[in-house]
Amino acid sequence: MPPTALADRQYAEAHEPLVFTDSKLVFFSSVSENTARFVEKLQMDSARIPLHAHEPKLITTAPYILLIPTYGGERGKRSILPQIMKFLGYEENRKNLRGVIGAGNTNFGEFYCIAAKRIAEKCNVPVLYTFELMGTPEDVLRVREGLETFWTPASQKQQKP
Ligand SMILES: Cc1cc2nc3c(=O)[nH]c(=O)nc-3n(C[C@H](O)[C@H](O)[C@H](O)COP(=O)(O)O)c2cc1C
Repeated sequence: MPPTALADRQYAEAHEPLVFTDSKLVFFSSVSENTARFVEKLQMDSARIPLHAHEPKLITTAPYILLIPTYGGERGKRSILPQIMKFLGYEENRKNLRGVIGAGNTNFGEFYCIAAKRIAEKCNVPVLYTFELMGTPEDVLRVREGLETFWTPASQKQQKP
């Protein structure tokens, strides 16, 4: 990269616009919006990871659950989208992560929801649930109830070592 381009990039990164969220649910959804439709049905406060590079970067200020789809390359390679990698590149976002919910499609066999599983493993947090596409009414109910239980003081206490 030429020095001016490098300087421009460093300047942009140092001055990039940020938005802060204390939502307990953070999600990503591509232009097909399956995951966004699922989240809408949950009727919970949530924050969306930006889709486009020009949008402000999302920084969490409190513990949260990450809900993401998988977009696998060949044999599960590059299954975590760059927007999600960028989001998790911020230390605060890794520190506040408490669990992952995966969206995917069982047609992908062993790579079903592989992005959620890989993030959970890397960040040492549980995979709390997986569902297909925009989820069934039962998925919506189970995730809503599961999240409510997850954040109760009693179950938070149990999760501490
Ligand atoms: C190109 C492509 C690759 C995909 N790869 C996987 C995959 O490896 N594993 C999986 O479980 N689902 C995979 N899916 C399914 C998506 O995760 C699923 O359609 C999801 O609902 C998309 O969410 P979104 O519409 O919110 O972006 C893939 C879908 C597409 C279009």
